[in-house]
Formats: sequence, structure tokens, C-alpha cells
Amino acid sequence: MIEINNITKYFRVGFFGIKKNAVDNLSLSINKGEVTGFFGPNGAGKSTTIKMIVGLIKPSSGNIKINGYNALDYKSRNRLGFLPENPAFSRGLRGIDIIKYYSKILNIKNRNNDIESVLNLTGIYYARNTQIHKYSKGMTQRLALAVALLGNPEILIFDEPLSGLDPIGRKEFKDIILHLKEKKKTIFFSSHILADSKELCDRIAVLVNGKLLKNDSLPSLEKEANNFYEKIDDSANLEYKNPLENYLYSLMINNNNNK
Ligand SMILES: Nc1ncnc2c1ncn2[C@@H]1O[C@H](COP(=O)(O)OP(=O)(O)OP(=O)(O)O)[C@@H](O)[C@H]1O
Ligand SMILES: [Mg+2]
Repeated sequence: MIEINNITKYFRVGFFGIKKNAVDNLSLSINKGEVTGFFGPNGAGKSTTIKMIVGLIKPSSGNIKINGYNALDYKSRNRLGFLPENPAFSRGLRGIDIIKYYSKILNIKNRNNDIESVLNLTGIYYARNTQIHKYSKGMTQRLALAVALLGNPEILIFDEPLSGLDPIGRKEFKDIILHLKEKKKTIFFSSHILADSKELCDRIAVLVNGKLLKNDSLPSLEKEANNFYEKIDDSANLEYKNPLENYLYSLMINNNNNK
């Protein structure tokens, strides 16, 4: 469904404009009907990868195909919903104005029903007539998710969908993602916190320092993590007690030379 083929993205940094790879020769397949979690520390290159998938930025080399279309071709985004990392909307408008605007430019059929259904699903219907500069972070996140779900897209790309939400909000967002999973949507989402989101995932990809370190099904990664855990001598002093979290933490700590 989504084929990421050897993509590298560099940015020029510093006075001399030296090339620095944010994403380094990444290849990954995102399978139809599966939920793939994309984990990695701050600065790993998750958002850069996601921006390339949705065609916001261009890879320095390599390519991404979505349903056979290059990610830079607008046709690749025909059936794709995107929740960005820090959603922001223009001040003064109400939630309902924003959602109507997007449903119009997306040329959504059955507009009113669709708007009502996405606002209800994301739990922001009650605040539809409130101006969005009066929204809390969690409310803005819900509205942005509602926008991403307009038109019932089959592919959903979420950049840190759980960030900035309180424990109740996180649970509700996870339930929405589980609901979308039941509907056999193809979901790719990024996160830092494995413990928080692993129950959503069929597959887990781990990116550190722009490089893909893991791309496995959840059960096989759990198995690997358990084996790793059993070999640890002093498990009482571990930062994380859960084997999977501990494994991910050690992958990040041992491979992250970003700082
Ligand atoms: N426009 C840009 N110009 C220069 N460097 C950039 C740009 N965008 C990203 N980077 C760099 O690329 C690297 C990866 O950034 P990215 O935002 O993809 O990380 P991330 O994994 O999403 O991190 P976080 O978890 O903090 O959101 C970082 O070192 C960042 O500074
Ligand atoms: Mg990011």
C-alpha cells in the first residue's frame, strides 16, 4: 500500500551549510489494513519521514509510492488522511467553519452527514460553535483528527496523535484508532512512548538517528525483547521494567548519537 524505497533526506546546517541526514536510506512497507507504529526519540526523523509520505517535502533521494502513485503526485493523496505534529488553525474561526472549509476543498459528498459523523467520532461536536483560539490543546488535536477523517480515507497518517493529551484523552484517542483499525484502515502513526501505544500496533518500526533499526510484527519484537531482558544481570536497576519498553530504550540509548 505504501512503499518507502531507500529515502534519504538531508538538511544543510550551520554557517557552512554542511549536509546532515535527517532520514538515512530508509526502506519500509506499510501494509494494507495494518496499524504500523513508528517509534523513535526526539529528532529521530519521524516527522521528516511522515512529511515525505504526505508529499509536504521531497526526499533528497529515493522515492515513496502510495497505491502505485509517487508521493509527490497529488493522486497519491486521494484516499489519505493526515494528522500533523502540531496542528494549528487560523484564529477567530469556529470549529465548524474549519471543518466545513476542509470538506468543501476536499469536495466531500454527503457533506453534512460526514461532518457530523467525524465531529461525533472525535468527541468535539459539543464545541463546534466555539472559536478555535479558545480550544485547549486536546480540543485542537480532536478537531485536527476530525479533519483527517473527512471523506472516510483508507490510509491514515498520524504524527504523534497522543501528544499533549491527558490520560483520559489518550485513552479516548486510542479507542478511536482501535475503531479505525476494526474498519481495516491502513494506519501509520508516530510516537515516543511504546508502552502507551503498543496495543494499537500490528507492526512496529523503530527509527533512531534517521536509520531504521527495527521493522517487525509486535509479537516477534516482544519475543526479541523478552530474550534481551532475560540476559540482563541486574534487572532491579533498570530504567524500564517492561521488557519491550526496556528493549526500545536500550536501542535508542545505544544508537542515538544525535545529541
Ligand atoms: N527544515 C529543517 N531544516 C533543518 N533541519 C531540520 C528540518 N526539519 C527537521 N530537521 C532536523 O532533522 C532531524 C529530524 O527531525 P524530525 O522533526 O523529523 O524528528 P522527529 O523524530 O519527528 O522528532 P520529535 O520526536 O521531536 O518530533 C532533526 O535533527 C531536526 O533538527
Ligand atoms: Mg516529530
